Amino acid sequence: MTAPALEESPPSTARRSPVRSLLRLWPYVRPVRPRFFTAAFVAVVASCMGLVIPLVLKWMVDGPIADGDPGGVWLGGGLLLLLGVLEAGLFGLRRWLVARPLAGVEAALRADLYRHLQRLPVSFHDRWPSGQLLSRATTDLQLLRLFLAFPLTFLLVNGTTILVGCGILLNQAWNLGLVLLAPVLPLIVLCSMFESRYSLAARAAQDQIGDLTTVIEEGVLGIRIIKGFGRHRSQARAFATLSERLRGTELHKARLLAMIWALIMTLPELALGTALVLGTLQVADGGLSAGTLVAFLATALALRWPVESIGFLIAMSNEAATAADRFFEVMDEKVAVDRPAPRSSGRPAPASRAADAEAGLRFENVGFRYPDAPPDAPPTLHGVDLHIRSGETMALVGATGSGKTTLTALVPRLYEATSGRITLDGEDTAGMSRSELRTLLAVAFEEPTLFSATVAENVAMGATGMSEEDVLRALRIAQADFVHDLPQGPHTQVGEQGLSLSGGQRQRLALARAVVGRPRFLVLDDPLSALDVHTEALVEAALRRVLASTTALVVAHRPSTVLLADRVALLSGGRVTAVGTHHELLHGSSEYRVLMSGESAEAEASAPPETSDTASRGGSPL
Ligand SMILES: Nc1ncnc2c1ncn2[C@@H]1O[C@H](COP(=O)(O)OP(=O)(O)O)[C@@H](O)[C@H]1O
Ligand SMILES: [Mg+2]
Repeated sequence: MTAPALEESPPSTARRSPVRSLLRLWPYVRPVRPRFFTAAFVAVVASCMGLVIPLVLKWMVDGPIADGDPGGVWLGGGLLLLLGVLEAGLFGLRRWLVARPLAGVEAALRADLYRHLQRLPVSFHDRWPSGQLLSRATTDLQLLRLFLAFPLTFLLVNGTTILVGCGILLNQAWNLGLVLLAPVLPLIVLCSMFESRYSLAARAAQDQIGDLTTVIEEGVLGIRIIKGFGRHRSQARAFATLSERLRGTELHKARLLAMIWALIMTLPELALGTALVLGTLQVADGGLSAGTLVAFLATALALRWPVESIGFLIAMSNEAATAADRFFEVMDEKVAVDRPAPRSSGRPAPASRAADAEAGLRFENVGFRYPDAPPDAPPTLHGVDLHIRSGETMALVGATGSGKTTLTALVPRLYEATSGRITLDGEDTAGMSRSELRTLLAVAFEEPTLFSATVAENVAMGATGMSEEDVLRALRIAQADFVHDLPQGPHTQVGEQGLSLSGGQRQRLALARAVVGRPRFLVLDDPLSALDVHTEALVEAALRRVLASTTALVVAHRPSTVLLADRVALLSGGRVTAVGTHHELLHGSSEYRVLMSGESAEAEASAPPETSDTASRGGSPL
């Protein structure tokens, strides 16, 4: 499973303009726009208020100070203090205005991403490493909130301040102002060059964080394997390699940033020095008042921070644009939509066909190919025809990798069949809404997943509105009596954050989850593999007794399980090659005989099927 277009390189898609990427955030900002724009306006006012200070200075130098008027100096000082306090107060107000709405924006982004991830088809999750999704849901969203709170506002604020400041400078002394503005053009060119290089580096770094998250996650989830096989070193090496790569990218980013920052600091500084020399000469000549020069220099100094900040504001915006791209890459993935109408030509049932010929679970010419399978590979399933009659239990048998799990996953539409149709009591599943499908059908898989919740909550998840009695009944059917010996009985916490259960115990809880809602159809993918033969027989017997009306497809390996089914279907080479009772298949299919006896195919081939006597070779098929 490879990440789509991740690894070392930037995304294979053409680089979008950062502005366009960031504009896509608008729908999330829209609800909070009054507060957001008020805050930005307040910040602009506060920042421009700082530019009034040099004008007061000018008035003081040319007025009260030149005239030796202490009262005027006090007045000027008081005015300066007031302006400073006002500026600080306004910036504080801005923070207060944006903090709450922006936390809301981040929460909305995250909620949308989570909802989308839940709705995306299983084939999407097959393709995407979980670490990439984790890092997008955490780091990237945080970057977006930071961007809205800080760089976005300050690009606006500092941009406005610089414009107003330049106006004041030119107004004070236009020739000195032009000297000061000389570096603007080269700086714009340099900034745009920097911007395009930096955004590539930012994208690489964020993708690498995703890869690193995947390795960390695997290291934590697979800790037993790592310890069991003594793989700490190789795992640590894999981690170190990725982490080293990320460090390299971050250093590259830092170098770029240092370079642009050096230029942004040096060029204006040189211009300022030149303006200072020229200005002093002009004051000496009497062409300029001392107060004007003071005001000019004070304004230029006040503009230093807005100018210097542009570099890293652009850098942060770039990172945010990348984060937005990464967020929308996931959001743009199509979720499977419920089709309103059946997709096949919908061959109408002939009037003569008996209703019970339609009843039950039916596969009609079903074919399936994994979306990420190599194009020349044969389809995993093709031309599968199978009818499980109403109330019948059908065992599905086949060699490992024959497609049993795949076939069972098609029924709840975890994957969509690429051809043919699957019907429940005659109704095409492709035309049903997912919720309708879920109420008819329950599934249990080979790998039972328990969530961090109580046993009862895990079981009740199987259907909506389940009572305590329903849960206890389901636990009984699944022969999960061990639950009552747990510290808090069915209310014991299990899953990642709770008590660890054995594989067989987890399987029985997964089975209880499948049967709790008394579904009409039940699909079980080898859900009893971790049980001992005795418990398995008890589970099977209980299942059949209580759910006599249920139509079930059960993937089975052992003869004991198969014997409890009414009929058996053999899956081989991507299609159902034989259907019949266990004994019919034992006599009719050598492949089935091999599967059930556990003998090698060669041994079977060397002995003619008619004369083979399984018992004489020391292995009863049952
Ligand atoms: N998510 C997947 N993407 C691509 N190929 C898959 C995927 N899952 C299974 N396969 C392939 O499909 C084939 C059938 O697998 P599966 O249905 O799990 O077999 P079984 O359950 O009978 O052992 C195998 O060759 C397997 O490699
Ligand atoms: Mg399987």
